Amino acid sequence: MLIVGCGDIGRRVAALYQSAGVPVTGLVRSAESTAALVAAGIEPLRCDLDAEVPAALPAAGLWFWFAPPPGQGTADTRLRRFLAGVRAAPRRVLLISTTGVYGDSGGAWIDESAPVAPGSDRGRRRLDAERTLAAWAAARGVEMVVLRVPGIYGPGRLPLARLRAGTPLLRPSEAPWTNRIHQDDLATACHLAMAHAAPGSVINACDGHPGNMTEYFLRIADHFGIPHPPLLSRAEAERVLSPGMLSYLRESRRIRNDRLLALPGMCLRYPDLAAGLAAIDPRAGAAA
Ligand SMILES: NC(=O)c1ccc[n+]([C@@H]2O[C@H](COP(=O)([O-])OP(=O)(O)OC[C@H]3O[C@@H](n4cnc5c(N)ncnc54)[C@H](OP(=O)(O)O)[C@@H]3O)[C@@H](O)[C@H]2O)c1
Repeated sequence: MLIVGCGDIGRRVAALYQSAGVPVTGLVRSAESTAALVAAGIEPLRCDLDAEVPAALPAAGLWFWFAPPPGQGTADTRLRRFLAGVRAAPRRVLLISTTGVYGDSGGAWIDESAPVAPGSDRGRRRLDAERTLAAWAAARGVEMVVLRVPGIYGPGRLPLARLRAGTPLLRPSEAPWTNRIHQDDLATACHLAMAHAAPGSVINACDGHPGNMTEYFLRIADHFGIPHPPLLSRAEAERVLSPGMLSYLRESRRIRNDRLLALPGMCLRYPDLAAGLAAIDPRAGAAA
């Protein structure tokens, strides 16, 4: 089993396979991540996908593609370079994409049948990854599954630094809907989708309980006893917030997860933010 981009989610998925005795190889870029893989009992493969392709790949029937696209442009050049350069192919490949490929739906509920219409280059790069990998897989008879993932949260993945810095937020009345998945539920979703999803499936991997984006930040602030930051009108936010943050504020979606919940064995451990936060000790906030 090969995990390309074996970071936080990759290591959680690896642990699920390792507990069943399946050996895992993880591809990463840095020395630090290579050491983390060794410590976790994962065979490391070090390669910078911006510049090279691995000289050889381990024989693996299953590939997970978790490496993010680069930060600029509209194409996933990392995935494209890798696919053009490798000779091996798995039996099955699972790609983590994002729900950003849907673009703005004006706050409406959507499912996987919604048209893709990314409103940012970040979303366009992910759509390029979906389409590039699908074409490559189809040409080789490789089964492919796509998980479209919203904001991932959990211990160590909370916006505490932003909250402590007092960076302003949009007023709740003007803030978009956002969607989330807990990091452990996402790892389970990857494992079960690889095992059971029909070839060609696209699955929204979210908890099905969207929330107001500003309330998400404020609930975390309350959980950790952090004072609320200033709340801005949209016009004020346009002047003050970073372009990256503003691009998130321009998209509002509520995403259904019926297809995820229909996977055999899928049961969300953290079906909403309240359940996820309840399991996080606020005294551990300094490390989060
Ligand atoms: N953050 C979110 O809320 C969110 C939402 C939707 C989807 N996603 C996506 O979900 C996926 C899994 O997330 P995650 O939290 O597990 O990410 P992560 O912890 O940042 O892991 C990403 C992995 O990709 C590797 N990587 C990055 N650039 C590379 C390069 N040029 N060459 C080789 N390896 C490279 C990193 O290696 P090094 O550590 O060595 O650099 C790391 O192992 C990612 O694609 C992420 O973008 C995230």
